[in-house]
Amino acid sequence: MKDAVRVVEVGARDGLQNEAAHVPAAVKLELIERLAAAGLRTIEATSFVSPRWVPQMADAPEVLARLPRRPGVRYPVLVPNLQGLERAIQAGAREIAVFTAASDAFNRRNINCDVAGSLARLQPVVAQARARGLWVRGYVSTALGCPYQGVVAVAEVVRVAARLAEMGCEEISLGDTIGVGTPRAARDMLRAVAEAVPMAHLAVHFHDTRGQALANVYACLEEGCRIVDASVAGLGGCPYAAGASGNLASEDLVYMLQGLGCETGIDLEALAAVARWINARLHRSPVSRLARLPPGKIFLNPRGERHGA
Ligand code: HMG
Ligand code: MG
Repeated sequence: MKDAVRVVEVGARDGLQNEAAHVPAAVKLELIERLAAAGLRTIEATSFVSPRWVPQMADAPEVLARLPRRPGVRYPVLVPNLQGLERAIQAGAREIAVFTAASDAFNRRNINCDVAGSLARLQPVVAQARARGLWVRGYVSTALGCPYQGVVAVAEVVRVAARLAEMGCEEISLGDTIGVGTPRAARDMLRAVAEAVPMAHLAVHFHDTRGQALANVYACLEEGCRIVDASVAGLGGCPYAAGASGNLASEDLVYMLQGLGCETGIDLEALAAVARWINARLHRSPVSRLARLPPGKIFLNPRGERHGA
C-alpha cells in the first residue's frame, strides 16, 4: 500500500468543540500553527455554528482571521447554515464543511431538524458557497450507528452522501460519530457509498470509543479510501452524542500509515510533540498510544521507513 493518504486534521474543531472549559483563541491558533509545522496540510480550523449551541466555537471569526496563511495548507471550517456561511466568508474562509447525519434522531439533537430538513437547509449553503468559489466538504454523521435510534441503514447513509455530492460537495466524510463500527461494517458501508459517490471523493471519520478506529481505517484503506480524518491527541467527541469519545488520534493513524508505506508528508515525532503539548495545555492525560511514549522513542515496525533513536 504505497499510495499517498491525505490526513484531515480535525482536532482544532471536532476536538476542541467538546472541551467544557474555555480554550483561549491564542491556544487554538498555536495548536493549528504547530499542526501545520508538523506537516498537516488540511486542518479543519473552527466552526461557525451557533455560539448558543457550542460556546467553545464562539471565537471562530477571530481564530480564522488570525490564522497565518501558509502555502499549501488548507483551513476548512464547519458551517451549519447560511448565517454560518456569511460569517465564515467574512472571516476569510476559502473552504467549508457542511454537516448532517443519516439519522433523524441525532440530527434533531445536533442541528434541530431532521435529515430532510437539514438537506433542504444545506442546499442553498452549498450552492452559494460554490458560486462564490469556495471548496465544500459534506459530513454524514452516524454512518455506522446512532446514539438515539440505534441501527442506521446503510441505504440511508448512501442516500444522504449521494444527495450531498449532487448538491456540489466535493468530498464526503463518512462519520462513525459514536465509534460503534467494526471493520467489516465500515468496509461494507464504504463500499456501498462508493457505488454512488466515487471513492476518490470519500473520506472516513472514525471515533475510537470502542478501540476500533484504526482497524476500521485499515479496512477502508484496503477498500481504496485515501482520505482519513483524525484528531491530534485523540481530542474530541461530539457535544450532542453522549458517550462519544475522541476521534482516532492523528499520531496513532500516522504511525500506522507510515508503517504501511503510505505517504503523508507528516513528521511523526513533531506530531506526537503537538499531542503532548495540547494535552499539557488542556491538563489531560494522553489517550493516544504515541503521546504516551517519551520523546524520541517512536520506533516504526521493521517494515516501516523510519526507525527512532
Ligand atoms: P436553531 O436554534 O434551530 O437555529 O439551531 P435558529 O436559526 O433558530 O437560530 C437560533 C439562534 O442562533 C439565533 O440567535 C440565530 O441568530 C443564531 P438569536 O436570534 O436567538 O439571538 N444562529 C447563529 N449564530 C451564529 N452562527 C450561526 C448561527 N445560526 C443560528 N451559524 C443550528 C440550528 C444548526 C444553528 C444549531 O443547532 C447549531 O449551531 N448546531 C451545531 C451543533 C454542533 O456544532 N455540533 C457539533 C458539530 S457536528 C459533529 O461534530 C460531527 C462531525 O464531526 C462528524 C462526525 O463525527 O460524525 C462533523
Ligand atoms: Mg467527529
